[in-house]
Amino acid sequence: MSQESNIHPIFDRLLGRSQKELFLNQKGKVIWMTGLSGSGKSTIAIAFEKLLHAKGFYTMVLDGDNTRTGICNNLGFSLEDRAENIRRIAEVSKLFASNGIVCINSFVSPTIAIRNTAKEIIGEQDFLEIYVNAPLEVCEARDVKGLYKKARNGEIKGFTGIDSPYEAPIDPFLEIKTDVLDLESSVKQVFDKTLPFIQVS
Ligand code: ADX
Repeated sequence: MSQESNIHPIFDRLLGRSQKELFLNQKGKVIWMTGLSGSGKSTIAIAFEKLLHAKGFYTMVLDGDNTRTGICNNLGFSLEDRAENIRRIAEVSKLFASNGIVCINSFVSPTIAIRNTAKEIIGEQDFLEIYVNAPLEVCEARDVKGLYKKARNGEIKGFTGIDSPYEAPIDPFLEIKTDVLDLESSVKQVFDKTLPFIQVS
């Protein structure tokens, strides 16, 4: 007998999403940033969260730093592990969004299939995909964490963009080119584009 037959859903007894959104005076959403390591996802996520917070929104940032150390700490960087990483993150994000929270995610999430899974779990209407785009050469030149150097000299195997694939989104909700825009303009673009989806009209 499957485990599921022993699970008794409590959804019908929980406070609903609309009550949470009314309480917070905002709409729950998952703003999902994808891009190469070093493209600027986390930097934008952090600055964007600060801006939203200052404007009275209730937010949560998820990225590798607070997930790979905890809920995903048994996962590596094979495509299989990345898929499981993103599946777990998507499930958690869905809980946040259904509680009215604006969840800002920054994950490499390298393949179309992986991001489609996230979109399916979260629900298309709550999933706003932002492609944080900087050419590989730019990310590699920045090499903020020194990981590209390690990937090039073989100390890290399966590094995204070097010897593991990155598939760019085909039709993202928004694309931010961080090699031509500064941080302030990038955050402004993200704010202007997402505001109608998170504010109560
Ligand atoms: S994902 O592919 O599963 O979405 P995630 O966003 O959680 O990746 O983590 C990516 C971060 O882990 C990178 O920004 C980088 O700092 C670090 N990292 C370590 N090893 C790798 C690797 N092989 N490929 C990509 N990023 C790696």
